[in-house]
Amino acid sequence: MEDSSMSQLLSSVLFLTMLLTTSAIPAASALTLRADLTHVDSGRGFTRWELASRMVARSRARAASLRHRGGAGNYYGQHPTTAPVAPGTVRHADTEYLIHFGIGTPRPHQVALTLDTGSDLVWTQCTPCLRCFAQPSPPFDPYASKTLYNVPCSDPSCANFTRTACLKESHLCLYVYGYGDGSITVGKVVRDTFTFKAPNGGTAVVVPNLSFGCGFDDTGLFNTNESGIAGFGRGPRSLPSQLKVGKFSHCFTSMLDDPSKSSPVFLGGTQDDLIRAHATGPVQSTPMPPHGNSTFYYLSFKGITVGKTRLPVDESVFAFKGDGTGGTFIDSGTGLTSFPTAVFDQLATAFKTQIRLPVVDASEVGGRLCFSLPDGTDEKKVPVPKLVFHFAGADMDLPRENYFYVYEADAFMCLMILDAEGDTTTIGNFQQQNMHIVYDVHNNKLLFAPAQCDKL
Ligand SMILES: *[C@@H]1O[C@H](CO)[C@@H](O)[C@H](O)[C@H]1NC(C)=O
Ligand SMILES: *[C@@H]1O[C@H](CO)[C@@H](O)[C@H](O)[C@H]1NC(C)=O
Ligand SMILES: *[C@@H]1O[C@H](CO)[C@@H](O)[C@H](O)[C@H]1NC(C)=O
Ligand SMILES: *[C@@H]1O[C@H](CO)[C@@H](O)[C@H](O)[C@H]1NC(C)=O
Repeated sequence: MEDSSMSQLLSSVLFLTMLLTTSAIPAASALTLRADLTHVDSGRGFTRWELASRMVARSRARAASLRHRGGAGNYYGQHPTTAPVAPGTVRHADTEYLIHFGIGTPRPHQVALTLDTGSDLVWTQCTPCLRCFAQPSPPFDPYASKTLYNVPCSDPSCANFTRTACLKESHLCLYVYGYGDGSITVGKVVRDTFTFKAPNGGTAVVVPNLSFGCGFDDTGLFNTNESGIAGFGRGPRSLPSQLKVGKFSHCFTSMLDDPSKSSPVFLGGTQDDLIRAHATGPVQSTPMPPHGNSTFYYLSFKGITVGKTRLPVDESVFAFKGDGTGGTFIDSGTGLTSFPTAVFDQLATAFKTQIRLPVVDASEVGGRLCFSLPDGTDEKKVPVPKLVFHFAGADMDLPRENYFYVYEADAFMCLMILDAEGDTTTIGNFQQQNMHIVYDVHNNKLLFAPAQCDKL
């Protein structure tokens, strides 16, 4: 793998020696903006059962790549290493949401990038490609943009890549960036203007001079409809960090019932007013402390209540360990929440004891905890115990459609929570449907409130 990333870099150096342009652009500023997210599986004709099964498979794959992140955790700002995997990046293909915005001028090129709070680099495939994966629209053509320029190696955004190479005469910064699932993007670091929607649908918001990777040798596992990845992590390279917004938020519309509805993401502005204006219940807040240089958004998780029972779990099970393992984080790249095995087993036992229905053979339903429903059951009337996630200073009382899923045709219902088969707790997207979630990175806290996301 190391050899292949090195030869990828070398062939890219040769390739690029011939392709050079530069131009100057005006300064960037911070602001409020909106972008739309589409679910990766929208518009692809999947049934509800298929959508749910695909989500489970992706969540498992993501959990597996998390287990392989190693004891050092997921860090940015390390010294460049020789390993092909960039300092701290975990993702897996078919993560959950694509963010849409425009790059370049005078006609912004629309990109669809996987929104990934588990990594930092923003990149999109560029022409001419040495090796690009298939994407529905043509890759971005950097030469078609009047404002794009190649950053010199002295640019701060050229620092801390797994590997970089400098083309001497042109001072072009070439990067190699790898992910936990073995995917690699190789390209040049450039800066250009991004175009987003205004929060209220008014005039577009144009932000000049943002740095991103123009990937022309991209290999590994990528989504059907993505053209790259938008890192939303804590590191300096991520989109929220570059925009210096300090806060961003998302509100996921119902995933399985109408996956074609887009979900909004807001960057900057008065997020506290926004969440209050749309909340259909209390707005709560919990600390989101950084752990060293970790890219992830760690939370302080305390416990779980099922029905009237608080599970007898010591909260240290959810805590971040000194060696960089464990911990609880919220992740836009994970569909279903997963808990360490011991916690998951207790959770499953609590549901089995309280839901007095036959348990379905787990192998038939992809290892999930499912119950069969008696013939002619009105699924809305099946009593389901409530589920509360206890965070430091905040209780997330989940609506039942955020943790149980009923398959009418097959007359069974399944718990949409998984065994992490590791020591990390990941709060996934399915549990965040119709909830407005504000990442207040500046003040190290997470705000959440129930909301009707399709009304935002
Ligand atoms: C763009 O940003 C880089 C890095 O902050 C800076 O060095 C450069 O002067 C900026 N360019 C313009 C035109 O603002
Ligand atoms: C994915 O691409 C297909 C075919 O181009 C399109 O019909 C579908 O709407 C796209 N889905 C998303 C989420 O963009
Ligand atoms: C590179 O690492 C240094 C030291 O941790 C940090 O200050 C800087 O912001 C990092 N830059 C990038 C682009 O990651
Ligand atoms: C963060 O990164 C910097 C630069 O590599 C390093 O000196 C520092 O020890 C790191 N901090 C932690 C807590 O890992």
